[in-house]
Amino acid sequence: MERLQKVIAASGIASRRKAEELIKNGHVKVNGEVVTEMGVKVDNSDSISVDGKILEKELKEYYLLNKPRGVITSTSDDKNRKVVTDYINTNTRIFPVGRLDYDTTGVLLLTNDGEFANILTSPRNKIDKVYLAKLEGIIKGEQINQLKDGVIIDGDKYKATRVKLKKINKEKNTSMVEITIHEGKNHQVKRMFETVGYHVSKLTREKFGDFTCGNLKSGEYRKLTIKEVQVVYSQKNKEV
Ligand code: URA
Repeated sequence: MERLQKVIAASGIASRRKAEELIKNGHVKVNGEVVTEMGVKVDNSDSISVDGKILEKELKEYYLLNKPRGVITSTSDDKNRKVVTDYINTNTRIFPVGRLDYDTTGVLLLTNDGEFANILTSPRNKIDKVYLAKLEGIIKGEQINQLKDGVIIDGDKYKATRVKLKKINKEKNTSMVEITIHEGKNHQVKRMFETVGYHVSKLTREKFGDFTCGNLKSGEYRKLTIKEVQVVYSQKNKEV
């Protein structure tokens, strides 16, 4: 269920404020009845009209993008830098599911389905987010254990579900580490490694739930299948 003014605004015919005015002034009907009070909730089965014109129900769209480096995870940028939605050919107002930093690459989902996005980003659902991080320095077992036990950042504890050392390069003094987390706080992976003493020089999200980039090259995308969307919905509030 969504608030009526939000649904009207999401259809693109009016801003949220204008939608509230339309409701107050008696322009809006739900299932044929004029509604003038604020806060009425509607769902997909309700027919909503504004001045007699029925709102088209927006079809849901789902995309998987292999996000390139140097792109902002947003739908617009005031400095005119490239944003992730520039890569997707659609007229629908889609948004990214969670965030990747400007210099992070890899799996990014985009949709206009808020519930789908919530399922994937809610820590309660314990969806795996798997990252491959290149570190400056050779990481030690002790630091890997610290990440698994949990590190404190700004008073909150962040625990890695899994940490795997993939490769070390003694000459270049770098380590490649795969880390799995369930939350998606701002710069979380970089900050977790900083806390145990390592700078992340490259970061790629290899997996988000079951999604990987597969054969997609940097900047390429594909639509999700109905089956893939259903699998996400089946993970809603799963108890682990
Ligand atoms: N953690 C980070 O530090 N950056 C990202 O882009 C994603 C997770």
